[in-house]
Amino acid sequence: MTSVLQISDLHIAREGQLVSDRLDTAASLERLVTRIAEILPAIEPLDAILISGDLSDDGSAESYRLLRQSLARLDVPLFAIPGNHDLREPMRAAFAAEGYLPSLGGLHWARQLGDIELIGLDTLVEGQGGGALDAAALDFLEHALEASGERPVLLALHHPPFASGIAFMDRIGLSGIDGLEKILARSPSEIRIICGHIHSTMVATVAGRVALSAPSPCSSFAFDRRPDAPVGYHISEDGMLLHTWHGAFRSVRIPICAGAGPYPF
Ligand SMILES: [Fe+2]
Repeated sequence: MTSVLQISDLHIAREGQLVSDRLDTAASLERLVTRIAEILPAIEPLDAILISGDLSDDGSAESYRLLRQSLARLDVPLFAIPGNHDLREPMRAAFAAEGYLPSLGGLHWARQLGDIELIGLDTLVEGQGGGALDAAALDFLEHALEASGERPVLLALHHPPFASGIAFMDRIGLSGIDGLEKILARSPSEIRIICGHIHSTMVATVAGRVALSAPSPCSSFAFDRRPDAPVGYHISEDGMLLHTWHGAFRSVRIPICAGAGPYPF
């Protein structure tokens, strides 16, 4: 059995800074880390924590340092891919010690983790909200899938490879999905795709594979299909996803607030 806890869109800023003058993302992260520490005995063995982008809100070295400081009290291996709010070089420097990030170029990586292959793809286009799977990303994926043999694959990228129906987020969606679909269609492996960006939990099908997005522990975007839907966020702490391979993939959302109980039936 192999388990990966996915947390996403933490949006950590410099010390004392609120995001959008309102969101105390550092406090949200503290509550998330406390919740993870609480649930660890219930979900062990946990092989890794994966952060699926927007680790930082401003790309500052200080924000990555604060993030690492908060997560340090969890003794679990950490992997990360960038989101549109991240900046490649400060992020590369912040995670250099783990040795899984390349020293140059896109932050694509692949690691065997227990029974599975964990692959991270960098979709960041610095200076833009939208993301891209460029030729280098698709080439990396193709080779990583070949190298993974028959192992099941958990494939992480920040931008969802599907339309969310949230218009203002789909306007900053992902390009290069066609190329991704072609590669996925050729692979014989069991593949689950996981992403972030839309601060919502959604499940879709991409080239016959299950793709799902993680919530954010600091804010959410309302599901509102109307073209004139208000652009903005809600303050809500929606938790995280736990992905387990045990002969098949199973993904479960874990809320930050457990609710009262358990009560006897
Ligand atoms: Fe985000």
